[in-house]
Amino acid sequence: MTDVLRAHAEQQHADELTALRKQDDRPKPPNWVLSPWAVATYVLGGETADGTVITPKYLGSRRLIEVAIATLATDRALLLLGVPGTAKTWLSEHLAAAISGDSTQLVQGTSGTAEESIRYGWNYARLLSEGPSQQALVASPVLRSMETGGIARIEELTRIPSDVQDALITILSEKTLPIPELDSEVQARAGFNIIATANDRDRGVNDLSAALKRRFNVVVLPLPDDPEAEVEIVRLRVKQLGESLSLPAELENIDEIRRVVTVFRELRDGVTEDGRTKIKSPSGTLSTAEAISVVTNGIALAAHFGDGVVRAGDVAAGLHGAVVKDPVQDRIVWQEYLEAVVRERKPWNDLYRACRELM
Ligand SMILES: Nc1ncnc2c1ncn2[C@@H]1O[C@H](COP(=O)(O)OP(=O)(O)O)[C@@H](O)[C@H]1O
Ligand SMILES: [Mg+2]
Repeated sequence: MTDVLRAHAEQQHADELTALRKQDDRPKPPNWVLSPWAVATYVLGGETADGTVITPKYLGSRRLIEVAIATLATDRALLLLGVPGTAKTWLSEHLAAAISGDSTQLVQGTSGTAEESIRYGWNYARLLSEGPSQQALVASPVLRSMETGGIARIEELTRIPSDVQDALITILSEKTLPIPELDSEVQARAGFNIIATANDRDRGVNDLSAALKRRFNVVVLPLPDDPEAEVEIVRLRVKQLGESLSLPAELENIDEIRRVVTVFRELRDGVTEDGRTKIKSPSGTLSTAEAISVVTNGIALAAHFGDGVVRAGDVAAGLHGAVVKDPVQDRIVWQEYLEAVVRERKPWNDLYRACRELM
C-alpha cells in the first residue's frame, strides 16, 4: 500500500481487472488486455463467473459504452463530447485502463499545447552533444502508445491550436509517425488508438478540421436525464470518494443528496421540478461533478466539525460556492431562487436558513 492521493484506474481496480482477465474467454482485438465485452463489464459493473464484484464506474446507457468500445477496436479514434462534468475524462481513463492496462499516456490540450506533445521533442543537451539520435528523442505520449500498441488520451482536443491538431491526421490515417531527423519512422503497433475528449461549449473556438473530424467517431455523453439517475451517480461517487479520502463519516441519508441534485437541476433547467416557477440560471455549469463535490465537502464538514451527520448547514456553503461564480449576477440569481423556491418548501426550511446566513 502506498499513500498516493489518487491511484491510476488500473492500479486502483487491479483486482477487478485481474478477475476479468482470468474469466475472459471472448475474442480480444490484438494487444487488448480484455475483450470488448469484458471492458464493458469493467466500465458498467457486474459480476464475474467466480463471483468477483465489478463496481460500476460509469452510470448511463450501456449502448453508448458499447459504441465507444467498439470504435476503439476499429481504425477510427474516439471523441467523447459533452458539457463539462459528464464524465468524459473519467470514462476515457477507465477505457484506457481496461483496454491497454495503462491510462497514463495523456496529453492535456490547451491553447499552448505544442507539436512536441503530440509527436516528439528533443533532449537538447544530448542533441547538442551527440546530434539527433534515438537517445536524444523525447517521445510524446502518443508516440509511446504507437510503440506499445496502447491507448493514448488527449484531453480537451478542441483547445489545441488547429495546426497542432493537424499533426494527428497522419498519425490517425497512416498509423505512422515519420521522424525525418533520424530518417526513420514509428509505425503504430496493433492496439494503438486515441481517445480524445472535448467540451461542446468550446466548439467553434478551434473547430476541428474536417480532415481530422473524419478520423473520429463521436460519442456524446449526456447529462443524466432523470433526477433519480443523477442522485444515484452522486451517491455512488461520493461513497467512493469518501472511502479513498478516508473521511470518517458516511452519508446514510440520501435526502441531502436529493436536495442538492434538485437545486442543481432546477437552476440548470431554469424551471422548478413541478414546472410551475421559472427561474434564472447562473453563469457557471452546475454539473453532476459539482454536485458530487458539494456533497463531499458537506461530509468533510460534518465529519470534522459536526457530529458526523450531514445537515443543511454542511451543504449550504458548497451550494453557495457552486452557484455564485460571478459575485454580482449569480448572487442575484441565487437570492431569487432562495426566496422564490427554497423558502416556499416547508421541509427545506433548514436549508433556507443555512443559505440565507451566507448571503
Ligand atoms: N454518468 C456518470 N457516471 C459516473 N460518474 C459520473 C457520471 N457523470 C459524472 N460523473 C462523475 O463526475 C465527475 C467529473 O467527471 P469528468 O470526467 O471530470 O467530467 P468532464 O471531463 O466531462 O468535464 C467524475 O468524478 C465522474 O465520476
Ligand atoms: Mg474533462
